[in-house]
Amino acid sequence: MKRITTVIATLATPLFLLLPSAVFSHEAGDFILRVGATSVVPDESSGLISTATTGALAGTGAGVGNSTQLGLNFVYMWSDNIGIEVLAATPFEHDLTAKGLGLHGFATTGLGSTDQLPPTLTFNYFFGGADSTIRPYLGLGVNYTAFFSESLSSQAKTELGARSLDVDDSVGVAFRAGVDFNIGDRWILNASLWNIDIDTDVTFNSALGKVKVSAEIDPWVYMISLGYRF
Ligand code: NI
Repeated sequence: MKRITTVIATLATPLFLLLPSAVFSHEAGDFILRVGATSVVPDESSGLISTATTGALAGTGAGVGNSTQLGLNFVYMWSDNIGIEVLAATPFEHDLTAKGLGLHGFATTGLGSTDQLPPTLTFNYFFGGADSTIRPYLGLGVNYTAFFSESLSSQAKTELGARSLDVDDSVGVAFRAGVDFNIGDRWILNASLWNIDIDTDVTFNSALGKVKVSAEIDPWVYMISLGYRF
């Protein structure tokens, strides 16, 4: 019996030596700043493009391209498990496309582009505790997306007589999921995503009068980042 205990102790000792003496993790009062590549990938659907002259044009729609930028997020740990988080970023630029105008005798496919900033506030629940190396989390919150610097393509201007492009700002629900992996007592590796409800109206004036299309952009936003806890 004594021999078995000795063998177990001998085998176990190196394992204990491999473990850090203490694991530091998120706890009440901590601030976390994360910086990394952030991609906005629209999962869009749209209504028909309509003009004041023709009404809705069958078979048409709008598309929104992907965009990747430097993202920042900031977390305040309200308790060991609840963190309040804000997403910020340098502006995302998205291409806007028109689908199906060829069915109505137009060649225009690229409508133009728009910039946007999507500040998002979420309340996240972090699983594990203040001594857990890995902290997965789920959250829910609200997004405000501001569209600006809308610009029309030269094709849209020339062929459709397009001018004064406007993309409406949007307020919607945001879902959040991610995981923080603690390295040492301050640094964090993070992989995370948001799913954001962004619904908007795109309008511009044209030779056919006012043109309008409603679009649900509803993007998945992916972020890989390095974080620092203080
Ligand atoms: Ni939506």
